[in-house]
Formats: sequence, structure tokens, C-alpha cells
Amino acid sequence: MIEIKNLQKSFGSKPVLRGVNLTIEEGMTNVIIGASGCGKSVLLKHIVGLLKPDEGHILIDGEDITKMNEKEIYAIRKKFGFLFQSAALFDSMTVGDNIGIALRENTLTPKPEIDRIVSEKLGLVDLPGTENLMPSELSGGMRKRVGLARALATNPQYILYDEPTTGLDPITSETIDELMDTVAQNKNLRVTSIIVTHDIFTVYEIGDRVAMMYDGIVHFTGTPDELRVTTDPIVRQFLERTDEKRAKH
Ligand SMILES: Nc1ncnc2c1ncn2[C@@H]1O[C@H](COP(=O)(O)OP(=O)(O)OP(=O)(O)O)[C@@H](O)[C@H]1O
Ligand SMILES: [Mg+2]
Repeated sequence: MIEIKNLQKSFGSKPVLRGVNLTIEEGMTNVIIGASGCGKSVLLKHIVGLLKPDEGHILIDGEDITKMNEKEIYAIRKKFGFLFQSAALFDSMTVGDNIGIALRENTLTPKPEIDRIVSEKLGLVDLPGTENLMPSELSGGMRKRVGLARALATNPQYILYDEPTTGLDPITSETIDELMDTVAQNKNLRVTSIIVTHDIFTVYEIGDRVAMMYDGIVHFTGTPDELRVTTDPIVRQFLERTDEKRAKH
């Protein structure tokens, strides 16, 4: 479980997080929504210790990451897989080498075992046998899937997705949603998912819990069904804007 308590962060004189409180429940798919620039990516970066807050605490399985030194954070980070907003792959490396990088660099896993894990994760994201392709040979959706396989390589307890479907066509987005759901439902992997998204379909299709950020705080939390029927004016306005945008495209 991850507990975020009164998290505050300013950049210069600009407050971005103004007291975020949020509980990420074990084994659930937790979706975070909110307008562009409201601090969703900044929040994710705090959770993995890439940013230090000005105030507040983040307890990861009871351990306060905000009080840790670099070495301790590094150990905690092994619990996480992270699919970044850009899903950046190393262009000079094969797909297989991209996926195995954390195992090669941070563990003593022998090469044949790494090869086996890479092959297994590629199977999981429905790209079996693509180890030797170069990233330049992949479509945008395939790159996201390779990014997901890489995030899964170390069998993380938590997987963080920052806008996994942004920039993809609706069909490819649906494939990525299904894949995140498959990973979330896989009893052997036992992952807790945190998905930041602009894609309201992701919320309704695969979310167990949803949190909406607004004005530097978590303004709403509930189930997708509760989101659907809430009369909260700020949430309604956000959802209506999302609908309008979708209608335009
Ligand atoms: N390292 C940084 N230094 C200064 N300002 C930053 C930094 N990182 C983020 N910000 C600012 O914090 C605010 C929130 O950024 P963030 O990237 O978290 O938004 P977001 O909710 O993820 O938006 P989007 O949906 O567009 O990805 C923005 O105004 C951004 O300019
Ligand atoms: Mg972002």
C-alpha cells in the first residue's frame, strides 16, 4: 500500500502540489486524472523518489520514502516498474536488450535467465519473438508495449504508467488498456497499478479506483461508477470538457 500524506511541492514561487492526500490500494488499478499541468507527473515522480517534497510524507509499505537517503531510495525503487510518458526506448539497443537492461545492470541474473525473462515478458505484451528488432522498426503502439515489457522485467510490486495511451489511435489505445488490465489481473504478477491518463475510457474500462487532481490537491476519489454519477461541479466540468474534446476529434 502507498499512503501519500499532505504532499506539497513548489517550483520557484509556483505551488504545484498543495497538500495531496491519496491512498493507493494493494492489488487495485488506481487511475489518476486531471487537467494538463495539474501535477500528475510531478506526483508520480515523488512516489518513486525522483523528486523530494517540500512538505508531507509518502509511505510505501509503511516506509517513509521522503526521509530516505539515495541508497535507501534506490532499494525501494526496485519495487517499481515505470512506463514513462514518452515510453523512451534506447534506439541503439535491440528490443531484447532494452527489456533486459535493469536485470543486466542492477542484478546478477545470468544471461540465459535474462533471455528467458525477456522472452516471457514479450509474450505477455503480445510481441513474442521480437527480441532482435530495433526500436526504429516498431510502431508507436509496439514501442509502448516494449516499454511495458521493460517495466515488468524485474517483476515489480507496483507499476506506474504515465499517459500510456496518449498519442495512440483508439484501437491501439484499447489494446494497451487491455494489456494493462491483463497485467493487473495476472495472479502470478500480483501488481498494483497506478495509471495517469487523459483517456476517460481507461478509467471506465479498467479502473478500480479513480482520483481526480485539481488545484494542487486530490479533489475527488471513488470508484469509476461513483465518478460517473457525482454531482461535484468541478468533476462534472472536467468530464464535460473531456467529452467535448473527444467529440471534436
Ligand atoms: N522540474 C520542474 N521544474 C519546474 N517546474 C516543473 C518541473 N516539473 C514540473 N513542473 C511544473 O509543474 C506543473 C505540473 O507539471 P506536471 O508535468 O506534473 O503536469 P501533468 O499534470 O503531468 O500534465 P500533463 O497532463 O500535461 O502531462 C507544470 O506547471 C510544470 O511546468
Ligand atoms: Mg504528465
